[in-house]
Amino acid sequence: MKSAHHKHYRWQNLPSTLVALLIQILAFFLVSSFILVFALDTLSLFEVSLLHSTTAATISYQQKMPKWWTLIHLAFSPALIATLALSISPIWFLAGFLILILIQGKTFQTQVPLYLSSNEAADGLASLLPQEKKFSLIDVGCGCGGLLSQLSKTQSKGHLFGIEAAPIPYLLSKLRVMIRAPNCNIQWGDFWKHDLAPYDVVYAYLSPVPMESLWQKARKEMRPGSLFISNSFIIPGVEPEQTMELNDLTGSTLYLWRI
Ligand SMILES: C[S@@+](CC[C@H](N)C(=O)[O-])C[C@H]1O[C@@H](n2cnc3c(N)ncnc32)[C@H](O)[C@@H]1O
Repeated sequence: MKSAHHKHYRWQNLPSTLVALLIQILAFFLVSSFILVFALDTLSLFEVSLLHSTTAATISYQQKMPKWWTLIHLAFSPALIATLALSISPIWFLAGFLILILIQGKTFQTQVPLYLSSNEAADGLASLLPQEKKFSLIDVGCGCGGLLSQLSKTQSKGHLFGIEAAPIPYLLSKLRVMIRAPNCNIQWGDFWKHDLAPYDVVYAYLSPVPMESLWQKARKEMRPGSLFISNSFIIPGVEPEQTMELNDLTGSTLYLWRI
């Protein structure tokens, strides 16, 4: 299963961005000392940056940080030097960063990026929902509202809710359901602060990172008999009552637990 891997690097109690920053600083001091001790002051700035980036990447790899950090460390200081050499205004980077925050929200904190449920996931989910009676469903982290508006077409008995923390996806979902899905309600906010008790079904398509805590929250707040459904990511150590493999591009699976 996709989500079977856990965070396993040594400093996993610290945010990985902080660990990466500490590695960059450590590599800076190591490389500076190396240059001083061996009097390598003839090296160009670019060569120093290569030395720095390989040192940082090696430490990151050796500390078992997730693999993409090795690549980021390899690219970081040469890219920094290249940017300075090309005199690119820092405003562009600030603008890029702000746009990313508006789209992705605080991914560096939540470790849940934005990617969207497939139509097959929406159809699969629809087949797991109560058909005869009214029910309420929440998509925690509803992205751009695609899943909810797709569901609303067939689920006339459902009261559909979504909560989303990232500003641009929230606005897109809000617009989308205003136009196309009157039985949906979208709220801007953090699902960790949102009570799950009123819902018969909680749907989550997040990442491996929050699953264990979200399960604790669901078990504490959701009513007996209600359903917790996760797209692609399991709850470590808790067997689902039902799984449904989907025939979509990413080969995702829906996992269902009854509270
Ligand atoms: C993988 S996307 C899934 C989008 C949508 N549910 C779907 O299935 O198409 C996860 C979304 O959760 C949002 N998210 C992550 N943590 C959140 C939080 N604590 N509160 C609200 N939204 C959150 C992210 O901003 C992102 O848009």
